[in-house]
Amino acid sequence: MGCEEEGLEGVYLDTSSICYIDEKRGELYYRGYDITELPEKSSYEEVTYLLWYGMLPKMRELEDFRNKLAEQRDLPEEVLELMEMLPKRVHPMGALRTLVSYMGNLDGEPSVSQEDVYRKGLSITAKMPTLVANLWRVKNGMDYIEPKEKLSHSANFLYMLHGEEPSPQVEKAMDVALILYAEHEINASAFTVMTVGSTLSDYYSAVVAGIGALKGPLHGGAVEKALNQFMEIGSPENAERWFFETLKAGKRVMGAGHRVYKTYDPRARIFKRYASELGDPKLFAVAESLERLIETHLAKKGVHINVDYWAGIVFRALDIPPELYTTVFAMGRIAGWTAHLAEYLSHNRLIRPRLKYVGKIGKRYVPIEERG
Ligand code: ACO
Repeated sequence: MGCEEEGLEGVYLDTSSICYIDEKRGELYYRGYDITELPEKSSYEEVTYLLWYGMLPKMRELEDFRNKLAEQRDLPEEVLELMEMLPKRVHPMGALRTLVSYMGNLDGEPSVSQEDVYRKGLSITAKMPTLVANLWRVKNGMDYIEPKEKLSHSANFLYMLHGEEPSPQVEKAMDVALILYAEHEINASAFTVMTVGSTLSDYYSAVVAGIGALKGPLHGGAVEKALNQFMEIGSPENAERWFFETLKAGKRVMGAGHRVYKTYDPRARIFKRYASELGDPKLFAVAESLERLIETHLAKKGVHINVDYWAGIVFRALDIPPELYTTVFAMGRIAGWTAHLAEYLSHNRLIRPRLKYVGKIGKRYVPIEERG
């Protein structure tokens, strides 16, 4: 049972000038700039500025923006206390959701006015790496590491996670990953953020809802699962048997398929390059064997490699624990969520679609004693 637009497929909610996906050619543009160019030439801070304000910053503007982000990385004491109290078994995405929600409670005016979105967005974007790195450290009994203002957004995250500053090559790979995850039009999490924002709730509620949507394995949760599947396959020779058994069991290959792209995801091509340069060659070989099977047998259904397929191999090479992969995705995507919220609020209208009712009506109410 379903309707033509099941899952809101092909439905346009609004117009936007933030992101353009050419689903047939497999192209992606942030504010008109090609994704094949931005990761190499830009930085996460610059891309965030671009997404929010619609243009590339001048030198002084970027410096100012970087400084403002770096100054706001520290977490309130109360958030650290809550971090310590969270049950150790909680998945990092659950922990991140709770911590961001709590930060909303600490904010005196948790509104969602358009002016507030960039202010709160700056604060949360700055704090996301501190939250993610340290929730992991605290969960694993390690000391809290304070952010270092002099480091870039990406280098500071890896520094807090590992306790040492990354090499320029590792810092660059991290930055590329955050840029690739920064934005992707009205996906499930951005839609959720916009829906909550459209009720004029508050910035934190919208972001918390977005984190909840991103957590699912059909969305951002696929990064961790894609890496797990390569581990499970173990060697390139096992890929074919694993692939057909998985399909026969009615399961999905993680990191493949996309609601919009019916081609190879352009972000995945960039991740693949980094995976081949930095990743474990054995895991890379497994992933390549599986990729060939996907492209041979699933392409006819429009299923190709998506952004989450190669990302895990890159993250593993950066020594990021698999459980953190989706939180790293959220760390990048906060830029896009904030941009969409601000854009939508400039002409807000409550988001409220319909469901086509297919049940019966006019049923007689039977008193409980007569129901048998
Ligand atoms: N593995 C195997 N078959 C697949 C896959 C997959 N990963 N994805 C889609 N298909 C098949 C479906 O079984 C279906 O086949 P059928 O027509 O014979 O029944 C057909 O392709 C169409 O699938 P839909 O479910 O209609 O596609 P939809 O657009 O709803 O789903 C989704 C998109 C959820 C991403 C899906 O491809 C999927 O589950 N992928 C795996 C999870 C994943 O990698 N998610 C990350 C997406 S990217 C991101 O969010 C960052």
